[in-house]
Amino acid sequence: MLRLTDKIRDKSAKVGIVGLGYVGLPLAVAFAESGFGVLGLDIQQKRVDLVNQGKSYIADVSGARLSSALANNLLEATTKQSRLEEIDAICICVPTPLTKTKEPDLSYVIHESEELSKYLRRGQLVVLESTTYPGTTREVMLPILERSGLRGGSDFYLAFSPERVDPGGKNYNIKNTPKIVGGIDPDSTEIAMLLYHQVAEVVVPVSCPEVAEMTKVFENVFRSVNIALVNELARLCERMNISVWEVIATASTKPFGYMPFYPGPGVGGHCIPLDPYYLANKAREYDFHTRFIELAAEINEHMPYYVVSRIMETLNAHGKSLNNAKVLVLGAAYKKDVGDIRESPSLKLIQLLGEKGARVSYNDPYISKIQLPHSSLSSVDLSEKNLSSADCVIIATDHSSYNWEQIANEAKLVFDTRGATTGLRQKNIVRLGE
Ligand SMILES: NC(=O)c1ccc[n+]([C@@H]2O[C@H](COP(=O)([O-])OP(=O)(O)OC[C@H]3O[C@@H](n4cnc5c(N)ncnc54)[C@H](O)[C@@H]3O)[C@@H](O)[C@H]2O)c1
Repeated sequence: MLRLTDKIRDKSAKVGIVGLGYVGLPLAVAFAESGFGVLGLDIQQKRVDLVNQGKSYIADVSGARLSSALANNLLEATTKQSRLEEIDAICICVPTPLTKTKEPDLSYVIHESEELSKYLRRGQLVVLESTTYPGTTREVMLPILERSGLRGGSDFYLAFSPERVDPGGKNYNIKNTPKIVGGIDPDSTEIAMLLYHQVAEVVVPVSCPEVAEMTKVFENVFRSVNIALVNELARLCERMNISVWEVIATASTKPFGYMPFYPGPGVGGHCIPLDPYYLANKAREYDFHTRFIELAAEINEHMPYYVVSRIMETLNAHGKSLNNAKVLVLGAAYKKDVGDIRESPSLKLIQLLGEKGARVSYNDPYISKIQLPHSSLSSVDLSEKNLSSADCVIIATDHSSYNWEQIANEAKLVFDTRGATTGLRQKNIVRLGE
């Protein structure tokens, strides 16, 4: 242990980041900027090449930061798993998706653990960062790593430390977001804490990996449940002829005991739609049904269908049917100001509108092309012609670059699922939750 702690303290430890995606690439750059030699590993040759050329594909990491890390000889990317041998501390940031039937798919974590077990050596630290259910680090990873013949805790160190990035968010980053660390034993926790102290101002140790794993899933369940609650409230407000947006703005004046969440066309991204299922599935192993999680998923997953029914009613009120209507969807990304379409409710919306016979086009300043189950679409210009010729313009993602006033002035009819137009008085705007 002494050797690795000394190497971390004098920054001679080599850090390996496995999975150079939304989570891994910012982490790799953060370690390089703090003076560590970093080896990034990915199975996608294209990503590896881009990193080595200083070209970023993740909005939160600028090409300039990548280039500076490369120029200082502190960053290199590879697809060669055998190079894990060179690494002192390995952070695993591979995907944890769901299967088609919404079961946890740990195949990436398992595959990487198997690879790692071939190259593991005494004194290395391994940290899992991927979001997963409680028990993954100890029950799934540890036995695979121990196939190397080395023992976790005595020969190598193992911990779970969840990533808490807020893609596109301007206020929080790796440095100022407290990092949770839970090792399989006190030495593992201590050494992983020391590592993360090099890039994060506050590191929060917990008693075991299971607490760290549960904390991360709980944070995402908390969001999912609160979004579902406000989605339900939005529908009630519509019935009662009350504006949910005004209610939320007013409730937000309370300085304690309340935190705003906003309704919308559904939830997206790699976290909120997926992570709660990790916990719900694991809970069943304990004869436990997580009803809040299931209910929240049901409400949130129904939102795109509900929005389509509201758009249908709105067109009907204007003497139009959705079938054959020309609709322009603004925003394909799952949230504002990012270029990420994973699980985006906009895609579901576009698909459902198409299935009802609408002639759908979309615009997104960050996403030039989208793939739907049976077709693909390219982003159209946000021109006056495209806005005014649509029977309905749907605000699906409230990117900051959109000029709502201009959009409302040029469109015949606007359906706003995000409350982006709440300050506007144009009569052609219909909002979810009102
Ligand atoms: N995106 C987020 O906002 C966010 C936030 C917190 C936590 N997480 C969690 O972090 C994990 C990673 O998410 P992400 O958004 O960075 O995913 P991502 O898809 O953007 O990146 C994952 C990368 O891992 C690579 N990869 C897959 N298997 C590999 C292997 N065996 N070896 C090397 N590379 C491999 C992929 O090619 C990809 O580049 C997930 O568990 C996710 O739930 C994501």
